[in-house]
Amino acid sequence: MQRPSAGEEARLPDPEEHAKAPVAVVGLGYVGLPTALALLAAGNEVIGLDVSDARLEAIRSGDVDLLPSDHQRLSRHLDHARFTLTSDPDQLGRARTVMICVPTPVDRHLVPDLTAMAAACATAVAHAVPGQLLMLTSTTYVGTTRDLLMKPLTGRGLEVGSEVFVAFSPERTRACPTSAPPPPSRPRARTVTGGWSGRGAMV
Ligand SMILES: NC(=O)c1ccc[n+]([C@@H]2O[C@H](COP(=O)([O-])OP(=O)(O)OC[C@H]3O[C@@H](n4cnc5c(N)ncnc54)[C@H](O)[C@@H]3O)[C@@H](O)[C@H]2O)c1
Repeated sequence: MQRPSAGEEARLPDPEEHAKAPVAVVGLGYVGLPTALALLAAGNEVIGLDVSDARLEAIRSGDVDLLPSDHQRLSRHLDHARFTLTSDPDQLGRARTVMICVPTPVDRHLVPDLTAMAAACATAVAHAVPGQLLMLTSTTYVGTTRDLLMKPLTGRGLEVGSEVFVAFSPERTRACPTSAPPPPSRPRARTVTGGWSGRGAMV
């Protein structure tokens, strides 16, 4: 594992404070919203960021397609101070981890359209702060983490692997009938398939 240099260490946040910082979920769709609710159920403060005001409004009014157990979680957490629903990207600067869950639709040749992902990554990079982990959970091809996160972070003067961290952990959500057992109260362990430096995968 790479150790941060003295200068980089100075820029990292206090570990105890950092551990209490929120997790941000960027893109509150079929994957992102249940992820945010599972993180809340596990005791985290969560910032849910979406570019769609209509989607945010639907979530606030509970008018969203969720498993019954997730509907209960949503109504429990909607007015809770630990859950921020926002379209303001400045909120990302408060987060210890930023999970990007935006759509990556494929065209008729099965080529993924990374327009939303490029926009979300650009927003996350622009607001990244030392100590933060930026994680892609959208389905995408090899090299996306490097091209849309690592290179632009480095371009901003942030040292990836010791000062900020990146990882790729694609979502494994499966559509399941409403009669299926409820999701676990804690988020399942995620499969991290890539990271820059061992520390990036561990953070
Ligand atoms: N749906 C599934 O069953 C499933 C399963 C495994 C993996 N995935 C993958 O997960 C990713 C997300 O899929 P989904 O089904 O949740 O998508 P979705 O279309 O349900 O939701 C995406 C949300 O992201 C928001 N968004 C778009 N651009 C944004 C931006 N720049 N910043 C912030 N928010 C933005 C949209 O407004 C929308 O609310 C995709 O890569 C998909 O391939 C989906």
